[in-house]
Amino acid sequence: MDKPKVVLGVSGGIAAYKACELLRRFTESGHDVRVVPTASALHFVGAATWSALSGNPVSTEVWDAVHEVPHVRIGQHADLVVVAPATADMLAKAAHGLADDLLTNTLLTARCPVVFAPAMHTEMWEHPATQENVATLRRRGAVVVEPAVGRLTGVDTGKGRLPDPAEIFEVCRRVLARGVTEPDLRGRHVVVSAGGTREPLDPVRFLGNRSSGKQGYALARTAAARGARVTLISANAGLPDPAGVDVVRVGTAVQLREAVLKAAADADAVVMAAAVADFRPAAYAAGKIKKKDGQDPEPIVLVRNPDILAEISADRARPGQVIVGFAAETDDVLANGRTKLARKGCDLLVVNEVGERKTFGAEENEAVVLGADGSETRVPHGPKEALADTVWDLVVRRLD
Ligand code: CTP
Repeated sequence: MDKPKVVLGVSGGIAAYKACELLRRFTESGHDVRVVPTASALHFVGAATWSALSGNPVSTEVWDAVHEVPHVRIGQHADLVVVAPATADMLAKAAHGLADDLLTNTLLTARCPVVFAPAMHTEMWEHPATQENVATLRRRGAVVVEPAVGRLTGVDTGKGRLPDPAEIFEVCRRVLARGVTEPDLRGRHVVVSAGGTREPLDPVRFLGNRSSGKQGYALARTAAARGARVTLISANAGLPDPAGVDVVRVGTAVQLREAVLKAAADADAVVMAAAVADFRPAAYAAGKIKKKDGQDPEPIVLVRNPDILAEISADRARPGQVIVGFAAETDDVLANGRTKLARKGCDLLVVNEVGERKTFGAEENEAVVLGADGSETRVPHGPKEALADTVWDLVVRRLD
């Protein structure tokens, strides 16, 4: 099979050096990458670096190797174009269809999916001109990854950082795998909860569970790759923030409920992938609980936590909001799943079998997605992202 052809466009921002790592990830995973920097990008990283790392020629202008008509051919033959970093100037050129160098020509001739990973100072990102250009590009089907928040070029911090190259790579990999040119979650806001809640007993101990958060993060990542605005409510997951996703960190079930209710207010879909503790200790000891010689330990008294999934399903924040639950079962998986779906009142329930070595912390998963309409979708053993994409397929069908 031919290697997938990726065009890596690099525009002139300091984050250009991070695109070297993105390039390596593509080449090491079997992609044929043609780097097309702008002339200003070469002020930050030289052509020799791009050429050596990609194994392909590098030019910025349409005047090199004119007999090969590069300004048309590179775009026409690409399976994916990703521009990282995309400066404010590059977004403006792309939105307005300017074509004054090889990269902008390539963007006009490409018929494959296009991903932009913007990086700039917060003021430039927030400027209405940039925001309108981003909206234009998204409306036309491009995936524009939200910049990360953090340290910028100088001592200043804010929104505008290039997301981690590993995360940009994940977005691209998903976009390539699905071959989407029309991101079907564009214009949608989706909320995903992930990880496992921890219910504190005292300042050093908690009741927790074995959820790694990987399935929820895969859901957030795939939704972003399909064009959604994503709020990820993360309970103790300890995983890197997916590119272009707003992450809200919580600890306990009560905090998770608060964050979910807030984010769900304007959401089109809510997916509850988090493992929420059903009970919490009735009392919290302000000081560490000490053992006392010759005495039995005090029993731990538990009280019920709110059932967030049942609550948001019964009282939907918006008409037509799609709500998805997860069920981790050890026995009678399907029968328990059907009962749980009815009890929780959600639209879809992803049922998977768990055990010592199954699902928790693993990279792969298999499940059955039960629909309130009686449907049953089997997802064979495979990456958690494949299951995530099936969930979004089913959500999109219900949103439409
Ligand atoms: N859930 C929730 N709030 C809770 C408990 C669970 O929102 N207090 C959500 C989970 O995020 C998941 C779904 O409900 O989407 C199923 O959770 P699970 O723990 O498997 O179901 P339970 O209601 O706890 O049923 P049981 O303990 O009988 O298995």
